[in-house]
Amino acid sequence: MPEIIKFKDVNECMDVAAKFICKHAVASCEKHGLFTFMLAGGNTPRPLYRLLAKRPYASDMPWERTHVFWGDERYVPIDSDESNYKMTNDEMLSIVKLGARQIHRVPVEEPTVEKAAEKYEQEMREFFEAIEADDEERKGDPFPRFDLVILGMGADGHMASLFPESPALKEEERWMAPVKKPGAEPMVPRVTLTIPLINNARCVMFLVTGEEKHDLVSKIADGIEGKPPAAQVSPVGSLVWFISS
Ligand code: 6PG
Repeated sequence: MPEIIKFKDVNECMDVAAKFICKHAVASCEKHGLFTFMLAGGNTPRPLYRLLAKRPYASDMPWERTHVFWGDERYVPIDSDESNYKMTNDEMLSIVKLGARQIHRVPVEEPTVEKAAEKYEQEMREFFEAIEADDEERKGDPFPRFDLVILGMGADGHMASLFPESPALKEEERWMAPVKKPGAEPMVPRVTLTIPLINNARCVMFLVTGEEKHDLVSKIADGIEGKPPAAQVSPVGSLVWFISS
């Protein structure tokens, strides 16, 4: 069953979310030596990333053993204000000074969005193959097991760049997929994670702020008909919703 944690105050929500991430990151490093962290884009996680780059969280986080990936990216140059990579880099990565080897961004410089998705998946496959090579438990699984995936949610129930009508929602084999027509601003093609990739994670954390999205969260928790993308998230590990006004 998903855990839903509600906050009246957005700052408190971000604080508890940051603590949760640090705890999870430390536990992952104790268990298997590193922390694989998939990040969300959009505006909601901005203050969370800012917090993680500051004390006490910056020193609680095992940054030197953390590898970051993005659950979705807009197909725009990395210095564009619409880039999820740029937002994360400005708020967090450039401040905690993560090494280039630990930052696995979507290769938006590829000539097409399809190629960008393909290449990103390839890079991810090589990374996980290397880190899971000696792990008997992980042998034969066609999907990677991220330690933590953060997701935001749109008012239409989309998450990452999986919109209600996206063909990518049906993907059963790929880890990352191209999205030519997004269902929300900015209207640029995207690269997105797929449902089986999310659902293979050790932990998925939704971060949702804004009263207008609360009803939908309750409906998803009660089992909404028609299953918007966010309702299809049901990981093998834990699922926790951080909700705030
Ligand atoms: C993106 C996202 C997207 C986002 C939601 C919520 O790149 O746009 O990853 O799924 O998380 O649209 O967006 P806000 O946080 O801006 O409300």
